[in-house]
Amino acid sequence: MQPHTEFDRYAQNYDELLHDPVRDAFAQNNAFYHRRKWILIENFLERHKLAPGNLEWLDVGCGKGELLSWGRSHFRRIAGCDPSREMARDVGGIEVYLQEAPGTLPFPDASFDFATAVCVYHHVPENHRLPLTREIRRVLRPGGTFCMIEHNPFNPLTRLIVKRSPVDVDARLLSERRAQRYADQAGLPHVESQYFLYLPEKYFDRMGRLEWFLKTLPLGGQYAMFAQK
Ligand SMILES: C[S@@+](CC[C@H](N)C(=O)[O-])C[C@H]1O[C@@H](n2cnc3c(N)ncnc32)[C@H](O)[C@@H]1O
Repeated sequence: MQPHTEFDRYAQNYDELLHDPVRDAFAQNNAFYHRRKWILIENFLERHKLAPGNLEWLDVGCGKGELLSWGRSHFRRIAGCDPSREMARDVGGIEVYLQEAPGTLPFPDASFDFATAVCVYHHVPENHRLPLTREIRRVLRPGGTFCMIEHNPFNPLTRLIVKRSPVDVDARLLSERRAQRYADQAGLPHVESQYFLYLPEKYFDRMGRLEWFLKTLPLGGQYAMFAQK
């Protein structure tokens, strides 16, 4: 695999590059998107009786580490890795490793209990996605959970934002079903999936529970797919 360095070019003004009229109308700033994902992850762990204080969490393609920072005081250990040196430069005290080869995770077998890859796969060339998922399986402990979060290609606003975004010029969106297939083929059987990001920030804060009832409708802005080793 060739080193994936285009994010090095975006890193310095990454937040500005994400601006889009639709995205900005949905949430005040980027922080909401990370908070919403953290709420979803916490909810999954709670429902599956997984105490984060006993778990080690790896975020693959962690970028600037914003999602990981939500888990900092909850997990036994948090760590990230990314092929972009520049994205991972300012992660504020989080343990972050450079993926020298984008398809190889710089960790021994069975190092983590929980692994996430958030908005990463749509930047990974299609023929590299299954090998990357096998790597994620390799670094998970038996019983460990993989959570892939991705843009939902069935949501027209998501597609519009991706089409206009300068950081998504190489993006190839994948459906939840395709995400499940990669996990399954890599030896990570499916546990559950949910669609989310239906409600803009101002409504989510008041009636966020509504999203729970819409989780199986394939229309949310993004989806989370959970699988287990
Ligand atoms: C859209 S950003 C998302 C960053 C972060 N996960 C987040 O949600 O803010 C995509 C990230 O995926 C990383 N990436 C691209 N190819 C990758 C690969 N093969 N393995 C791991 N990360 C990769 C990029 O360097 C970039 O940091």
